[in-house]
Amino acid sequence: MPTRRNFLKQTGAALGYSSLLHSGIPLFAQNSLANQNLSSSVYTGAASLAARAARTRLPYGCAVVPERLNMDMQYTRTIIEQCSILVAENAMKWAAIHPQPNAFNFAGADKLLAFAQAHNMQVRGHNLSWHQALPPWFKMTVNRENAQAILVQHIQTVAGRYAGKLHSWDVVNEAIRVRDGRSDGLRTTPWLELIGENYIDIAFRTARQADLHALLTYNDYGIEYDSPNEERKRAAVLALLRGMRKRKTPIDAVGIQSHLHAGSQADFGRGLKHFLHEVRKLDLQVFITEMDVDDSKLTTDAEQREVAVAAIYQKYFDLMLRDPQVTAALTWGITNRYTWLSHIHPRKDGGQSIALPFDTNYQPSKAFFAMGIAFDRRKVQSVAPALPAKVSNSSAIHVPA
Ligand code: XIL
Repeated sequence: MPTRRNFLKQTGAALGYSSLLHSGIPLFAQNSLANQNLSSSVYTGAASLAARAARTRLPYGCAVVPERLNMDMQYTRTIIEQCSILVAENAMKWAAIHPQPNAFNFAGADKLLAFAQAHNMQVRGHNLSWHQALPPWFKMTVNRENAQAILVQHIQTVAGRYAGKLHSWDVVNEAIRVRDGRSDGLRTTPWLELIGENYIDIAFRTARQADLHALLTYNDYGIEYDSPNEERKRAAVLALLRGMRKRKTPIDAVGIQSHLHAGSQADFGRGLKHFLHEVRKLDLQVFITEMDVDDSKLTTDAEQREVAVAAIYQKYFDLMLRDPQVTAALTWGITNRYTWLSHIHPRKDGGQSIALPFDTNYQPSKAFFAMGIAFDRRKVQSVAPALPAKVSNSSAIHVPA
């Protein structure tokens, strides 16, 4: 634990007027920064999640909304202090980055990249093809004749722009839905219907041509729990991955989204371990890409919910991090203040969703401590890819305009 003196030194530096004056932070933001409670700074530096994960060469980070970096300086500071890898929560999706058939909007994505670069963090790309977040023009414009060319051009343009700058790309997101009834388990997405099942190989091949360095990832959810449905989905994902390997489709990693939930009978363990084992045989890395815990089914008080959520973090990270193939871990946001679960699965009692490592006031939650312990317990990995030279713990905040 840092001493009180160090703590005061840190917060003092953080609040130093002259450094703020030269930091490029708008005045309104500087004022809110000066007023904020910075006690969470005890958990920065060597005690941060990024540093503790980095000991085992694991990048830790979260999904980010780039515009928020200029609006909520506690948000910005927490991300700088805790993360060594970021992903855009929405800014790189089709609807955001390709708003017109012939127009791209890179503002959010560029901003995220510049911010990450200024603070020595890596960035994941999310995503190049998905059945959701398609722009309004998609339905009117895309047909069987032009779908492949439009997909390829999108990937060339977006992956090409960030070539050499990204840790990885979610090339195809959520392509399996066993319930749709196909024998291969593929989801009947617009891409599948317009191009055919080889849209997946096309997307990965195009991504590799556009960016030789990003680790190409297949990303999906609903493959964590020991339920019959998730078991079937795991089998379909594995069949897809094996097929890709057989066809020599370029792929480097599987993203396990890890949207978990508290308060149901379902548990994880056996099925997930078996999945990791099979993925290892295919020589693919595994990323925890979107971890959070949905507490909307829990009826207990906030403190007990926080304990239950943290227990899931603990168990999940302990299980996943035992596997050396797991080479990145991201949560879907950093603070309960902005979790998407508040919108998609709001609590019936009107209470705050407890899902992420920081609470709404930027105090570390029990999930933070659970994750930290899991990082501390992990054996040092010798084969994992190297991290950037240092984890940022700078007190100057750089937010690109
Ligand atoms: C979610 C975002 O968090 C929301 O803000 C948005 O409204 C919908 O998408 N799986 C994914 C993510 O791959 O892109 C999703 O993100 C969450 C589920």
